[in-house]
Amino acid sequence: MYKLFFNLVFKRMDPEAAHHMAFRWIRLAARTPVVRTFAAAALAPRHKELRTEALGLRMHGPFGLAAGFDKNAVAIDGMSMLGFDHVEIGTVTAQAQPGNPRKRLFRLVPDRALINRMGFNNDGSEAVAARLAARKAVFKTVVGVNIGKTKIVPEEEAVADYVASTERLARHADYLVVNVSSPNTPGLRNLQATESLRPLLAAVREAADRSVPDRRVPLLVKIAPDLADEDVDAVADLALELGLDGIIATNTTIARDGLGLKSDPALVKEAGGLSGAPVKQRSLEVLRRLYARVGDRLVLVGVGGIENAEDAWQRILAGATLIQGYSAFIYEGPFYARAIHKGLAARLAASPYATLAEAVGAETRKAAQ
Ligand SMILES: Cc1cc2nc3c(=O)[nH]c(=O)nc-3n(C[C@H](O)[C@H](O)[C@H](O)COP(=O)(O)O)c2cc1C
Repeated sequence: MYKLFFNLVFKRMDPEAAHHMAFRWIRLAARTPVVRTFAAAALAPRHKELRTEALGLRMHGPFGLAAGFDKNAVAIDGMSMLGFDHVEIGTVTAQAQPGNPRKRLFRLVPDRALINRMGFNNDGSEAVAARLAARKAVFKTVVGVNIGKTKIVPEEEAVADYVASTERLARHADYLVVNVSSPNTPGLRNLQATESLRPLLAAVREAADRSVPDRRVPLLVKIAPDLADEDVDAVADLALELGLDGIIATNTTIARDGLGLKSDPALVKEAGGLSGAPVKQRSLEVLRRLYARVGDRLVLVGVGGIENAEDAWQRILAGATLIQGYSAFIYEGPFYARAIHKGLAARLAASPYATLAEAVGAETRKAAQ
């Protein structure tokens, strides 16, 4: 049904216009109590065995919405209604900014992928903080806040920019994410190098503690799939050294070669980050590598090309405690999150593991023996 609708309507529209239309519907549905209650009852995870504790937070299930879909924190209840058990808002930058000129979002339908060069279009940390402060939550969704650098701020002043966002947003965040991995802000990914990342993460940690003295806000870093293996190890070691809570692996990729892309070559050549099915393999590899390095000492969040419950299950076995998706939601539609939670419950029941927590990293541990 959704696939038919996608082919007849969304596929013929500009991808960004389709996003805004779907987004309006989701928000409208979430504001209509009868629709909201009915949808949430049908779509929310309700399998006891999927209950997840991570980052000191209790969740009904491990699957949530990746950053970038709800950049301005305007549809948290709407996404929760659709069964995403946590919602990561952002990326929010210290200053409001328009992002890159359109067109900046492209669908690679035969590859079940997207290319985007949105460039952190968002309302800025002040406006988003005010929105979060005023929010009357309908659903008790875990809300992650993902922060990034304002484009016009030079790289040398990046730390102060992230700190400003942290001071405004940390108190509204169930967890905070430092995004240093989007390919669409010039120089941003250089911040993944440990000599830049160490002072940045230390400053954000300090700012979060200072601005939220009554609670320790969990802090994670989100990395690119394009990091070399040694650099993945270096970030893992740094995260442990600085007492971070977790790592999100991964963001979109700038790679195009060797991915067997089937879409129109002109589209494939568009600048930006590639997401969806083609990034699946590398995201899984990065996750495995991280788990082999840090084990249970950090919460690992698996994201990148998760299309179905089997993909989600493979991430859990590889070492992810939480999992997220974005691109496949565009192709799969409103039942996407439900299908993942339902399929995960079935896989867990058929597995030798008594709990989801026991399954986390099981395959990676086995491979290391
Ligand atoms: C249109 C679009 C916008 C995105 N914006 C952000 C963003 O602002 N911040 C961020 O950390 N990740 C962003 N991402 C990356 C996703 O959160 C995710 O890491 C990536 O798409 C891989 O997951 P997927 O294959 O399920 O889409 C964006 C992805 C897409 C497709």
